[in-house]
Amino acid sequence: MTARTRTDGRAKVTGGATYTADRPADWYAVLVTSTVGAGRITGLDVTAAEAAPGVTAVITHRNAPRLAEAGGVYAPKILPLQDDLVRYEGEPVAVVVADRLERAQEAAALVGVAYEETPVVMELDAALPQAYEIAGYYEPSGTSVGDVAAGLRDADVVLERTYTTAARHHSPIEPSGMVATWRDGELTIHDATQGVFNTHEVVTNALELPPEKVRIIAQYVGGGFGCKGYVWPHQIIAPMTARLVGGTVKLVLTRAQAFTSHGYQPPTRQTVTLGATSGGALTAVRHHSVNATSVYGDYLEMAAACGRTMYASPAIETSHEIAPVNTILPTPMRAPHDGPGMFALESAMDELAYELDIDPLELRLRNYAEQDPTHGRPFSSKELRACYAEGARRFGWDRRVMTPRATRDGNDLIGWGMASAIMPTFMMPANARVSIDAEGRVLVETSTQEIGTGTRTVLPQIAAEALGCSPDQVRIEMGDTTLPRAEMTAGSSTTLSVGSAIHNAARTLRAKLASTALGEGSAPADMVRVEGADLVVDGGPRVRLRETVSADGSWAPEEAGLTFSTFGAIFAEVRVDADLGLTRLSRLTGVYSAGRIINPLTARSQMIGGMTWGIGQALLEHSDVDPVLGRFVSKNLAGYLLPVNADVPDLDPSFAEEYDEHAGHIGGRGIGELGAVGVGPAIANAVFHATGIRVRDLPISPEELM
Ligand code: MOS
Repeated sequence: MTARTRTDGRAKVTGGATYTADRPADWYAVLVTSTVGAGRITGLDVTAAEAAPGVTAVITHRNAPRLAEAGGVYAPKILPLQDDLVRYEGEPVAVVVADRLERAQEAAALVGVAYEETPVVMELDAALPQAYEIAGYYEPSGTSVGDVAAGLRDADVVLERTYTTAARHHSPIEPSGMVATWRDGELTIHDATQGVFNTHEVVTNALELPPEKVRIIAQYVGGGFGCKGYVWPHQIIAPMTARLVGGTVKLVLTRAQAFTSHGYQPPTRQTVTLGATSGGALTAVRHHSVNATSVYGDYLEMAAACGRTMYASPAIETSHEIAPVNTILPTPMRAPHDGPGMFALESAMDELAYELDIDPLELRLRNYAEQDPTHGRPFSSKELRACYAEGARRFGWDRRVMTPRATRDGNDLIGWGMASAIMPTFMMPANARVSIDAEGRVLVETSTQEIGTGTRTVLPQIAAEALGCSPDQVRIEMGDTTLPRAEMTAGSSTTLSVGSAIHNAARTLRAKLASTALGEGSAPADMVRVEGADLVVDGGPRVRLRETVSADGSWAPEEAGLTFSTFGAIFAEVRVDADLGLTRLSRLTGVYSAGRIINPLTARSQMIGGMTWGIGQALLEHSDVDPVLGRFVSKNLAGYLLPVNADVPDLDPSFAEEYDEHAGHIGGRGIGELGAVGVGPAIANAVFHATGIRVRDLPISPEELM
């Protein structure tokens, strides 16, 4: 466990790190998007736009090249600019290309579009009659163990509550964008993406190009949080346009388009039913969730999945549906599934604690899952008990009185709430190459993307540890489809998955170096360390490197009969203004079980970032729709509130001491999303403790507390 500051930190804060939109271009493409939520384009007038200064092309469905089926999980479910139909406000209806950005913007405003509107369905509640089931993603959509009906019949207390979470947008500081170059029949694309190979697959398919003629590069990505994982219409439009006009085309979404031109976290409506004995032992858990999807495609938020694994109960039933609305397709957003899901489950557990008059933390402990209750498997590793204990100690939970509305400081009602966190550990196949040259420079190569999490710092640390050298002599090249393939940076999977591939490559390299130093096969790899350009043999000679040596490594998850999950215990203190209903978060403690922590500094940053997402979920973020005009109401950061520094007190994240021997070769499970789980319900539970008012709909608004 070595704390290292970010190797790319200076480059990032001084402007030395080149992001996609920083790159120069010959042409600038600006999207014209539909202003209605549903209907058909009945008229298009591009004359003025085509005649505007600097314009080289105006592309609409009438003259756009025909695209081929993009296929694959991550492709848009409809291809852009191929027909006259409108399924959502913000759908591309034209793209204008000019020699300067301002000229393209000016001309885009001159494109005339007439629509025949059809009725929209915008709100989840309005779409519920059309709800349907689909298959699950990483697990079945529905599960059932034990006899829930019997569990509820035998319970001393049964509680059934419905909770909702709001639509939310990712809003990374860098909006999505692409710089695409068409030259000599080849496409080179810089893309703000979490998955260069996702983009590669979609672009080669849609444009029917041989894979080797398309290269996708993502050197730096200014945050993704999920909105850059799947591939969206602009990522097909930019290369299509580049092929049409030749040279380099830049297409960057505006902030407003970042609310309509890629996915968002759909609103959910969840019903949790808990049965328990008077002693607080769960006899049944039922969790049903329905989320909004788009009229043109399916997206399932697996919000009910958390209850499958969280608490020991003899009977557990979970199910999901989706209901179509006129928006772009929703998509995962940081702490998808369990983020919205745990708000419902952990609010219900708090309500049960009050029904039974059992301390909320004690109730969790009485239902602690020693093994995965739905799948009947052991956990790869789980230190949640230690998290509860340490979190309670740091927070001072034992001083809490159960009674709501009992603590006041002037006009402020003070409340303490807690919740558990859980997040499945996603693992993906990965490949890497590690080499060392005669100068002792170690190079790690892998296509994985740096999206702001510290990957450029942490992966070299893993290589250095496996190779037996200083991390200072390790460099990494990443974010490029010409490098050994890794999958998208998503599901908190990178450190474990790509790290394990790098570990394997570095171990193979170390064995080669041992042979170099001591003769073929004569020495175990661990006998040799690397010091600069010297190979240092334990109790033996120093051997100078003479040439570059490199090794490939790969890793893929294997079926181990185990459940891999990360966990946390979250404790929140709020102050609610008794007159104005304003909630201020004053303390937030999170203790997490995630196995070994590779870099405590970047890990801490991840948890602070994740916890801040949870604050947004609890208190601020909601993308409201206009049910008549068929659009998101506030497509800007003035109308869509995110937590800022003034909303965030000193956060207190820490980790349980743990090594997970099953977590690839690194001993640790992913943490990027875990921090965003459990904070919402901990805050909502604290608000109940402060005010006696149970808020079941996020975000918590002052109106509900007045
Ligand atoms: Mo994350 S929502 O899997 O990028």
